[in-house]
Amino acid sequence: MNRPESAKKGIFQACVLSNQQIRQCYYRLELQLDAKGSELFKGVVPGQFLELDLSGVSLPDASAIPDHLKDSSQRPVLLRRPFSFSDVTVTQDFNGLSVKVQILYCVLGPASVRMMNLRRNDTVSVLGPLGNGFSISDGLSHAILIAGGMGSPPVLHLAAYLKEHYPKCSTVSFVGAKSCEDLPFSALIGNLKGFVLEEFDRISTPCHIATDDGSAGYQGFVTDHARGWLEKNKIDPASTVIFACGPEPMLAATALLAEDSGLTCQVSMERMMACGIGLCQSCAVEVKAASAGTKYHLCCKDGPVFNSKDVVFQAG
Ligand SMILES: Cc1cc2nc3c(=O)[nH]c(=O)nc-3n(C[C@H](O)[C@H](O)[C@H](O)COP(=O)(O)OP(=O)(O)OC[C@H]3O[C@@H](n4cnc5c(N)ncnc54)[C@H](O)[C@@H]3O)c2cc1C
Ligand code: FES
Repeated sequence: MNRPESAKKGIFQACVLSNQQIRQCYYRLELQLDAKGSELFKGVVPGQFLELDLSGVSLPDASAIPDHLKDSSQRPVLLRRPFSFSDVTVTQDFNGLSVKVQILYCVLGPASVRMMNLRRNDTVSVLGPLGNGFSISDGLSHAILIAGGMGSPPVLHLAAYLKEHYPKCSTVSFVGAKSCEDLPFSALIGNLKGFVLEEFDRISTPCHIATDDGSAGYQGFVTDHARGWLEKNKIDPASTVIFACGPEPMLAATALLAEDSGLTCQVSMERMMACGIGLCQSCAVEVKAASAGTKYHLCCKDGPVFNSKDVVFQAG
């Protein structure tokens, strides 16, 4: 997959609607985009991302900063930071076009610590939409979504997007994390269905959970859980696609699973990104060249979504 990057992007302001803690280190930020941003984001697809300028946001009170981040959070935030969307709501009424974007974020450094301090009605500068998202064909009948850790937000967005735009497509999702506490969602425990994730339950998409320590769902790797499901369920490989986002070793395992199962697979890759728009060359992804050998694509511009067959995964 080497599609041209979606053309229209820009810098605009977004207003904070809410910023809620959902787990110890996980937050859900809702942004209302201004008129320019709404116009740019009205056709956004899952897997695309935005960059936030958090340089002007002050640090929260020292008591709110996790102990292990007290030193590193003092570093200045010079560059914008990339985030995918876990949900996008587009409405058009007599007031005009309006787009709201939801971001699930993990607090792990100076920028995300500052994000904790965003309050309702604060404004933040956004650059986007960026990159190429997941590519969905009209003939898709089964979608298998696999997410690991902070790869979950775009996968949740994709599940809702498929429900809305491809209602005939049957979707099943697999979400993995080290432990129950590392699932970046609000969890529901102990209802009739056992352990379910509220966000997937709300959109009626089956979601299988895997944790390394067995604290929720299947104990083991999420890709092994998906492999077991594929062995038990008959699906038509010609009209089934695996969509995945997560750490690179998980994506490599997903690519192998797809190959073994004869399925097409799209993976959303992560790289450290400085500019997000193809200028700084900091986000190289090694891909197979058509003739022989390999070459480099830019994660921010040519990706972040790639056909798994094209990617040379880094050992890890
Ligand atoms: C396309 C894309 C989509 C993303 N979507 C989300 C999202 O939906 N939610 C979310 O919480 N995070 C997401 N991220 C990661 C997010 O950009 C980083 O967590 C954020 O930049 C951290 O900034 P910081 O200043 O808080 O921490 P930093 O000090 O910049 O980083 C803290 C630690 O995290 C590591 N790290 C930071 N960014 C990355 C990265 N891109 N890949 C691998 N390791 C990294 C650093 O090496 C460092 O060890 C996404 C990244 C990309 C490239
Ligand atoms: S982040 Fe600068 S080229 Fe990709």
